[in-house]
Amino acid sequence: MNRPLLLATALTAVAMAAVAAEPARDAIVAAYSQLATSENPAFSGFSAARGERLYLGPHTGGNTETPACATCHTADPRASGRHVKTGRAIEPMAVSVNPRRFTDAVDVEKRFARDCPNVLGRPCTAAEKGDFITFLINR
Ligand code: HEC
Repeated sequence: MNRPLLLATALTAVAMAAVAAEPARDAIVAAYSQLATSENPAFSGFSAARGERLYLGPHTGGNTETPACATCHTADPRASGRHVKTGRAIEPMAVSVNPRRFTDAVDVEKRFARDCPNVLGRPCTAAEKGDFITFLINR
């Protein structure tokens, strides 16, 4: 195979992967939207601005070492993060630079269940989860 053709094939594969990943993310957002309505009948949609406030904090009530999601995920969600305790690198959270974000419902739930109590001292509501993802879809 010649090089331009190889490149075209590779790019097609990347484009297809990106397209294929979106329904999974849409389904996750839709599930949180349904849950948010059942948690609060007055729920009227997710907000990227609220998601940004959740992301940046600072919050009280959780672990004092982790007052914000940004403590590990960095203030700029397009940048790589760093786990404040282990020092291990964390891939960017912004969907624009990391299209695999929020495409595995089990992983996403597992991390919310762990990270929210760490930062807030309580689980996130479904509305907060959707706000958080909406913020990062728009970054
Ligand atoms: C103590 C460090 C730390 C803090 C603070 C933290 N996280 Fe995380 N988070 C991680 C690690 C580690 C991962 C898993 C590695 C990865 O997904 O790249 C992760 C992954 C996630 C994921 C999974 C995303 C996906 O695509 O699967 C979500 C959702 C998440 N975090 C939400 C939050 C929220 C919401 C907050 C703030 C309330 C927060 N995190 C604060 C360390 C942290």
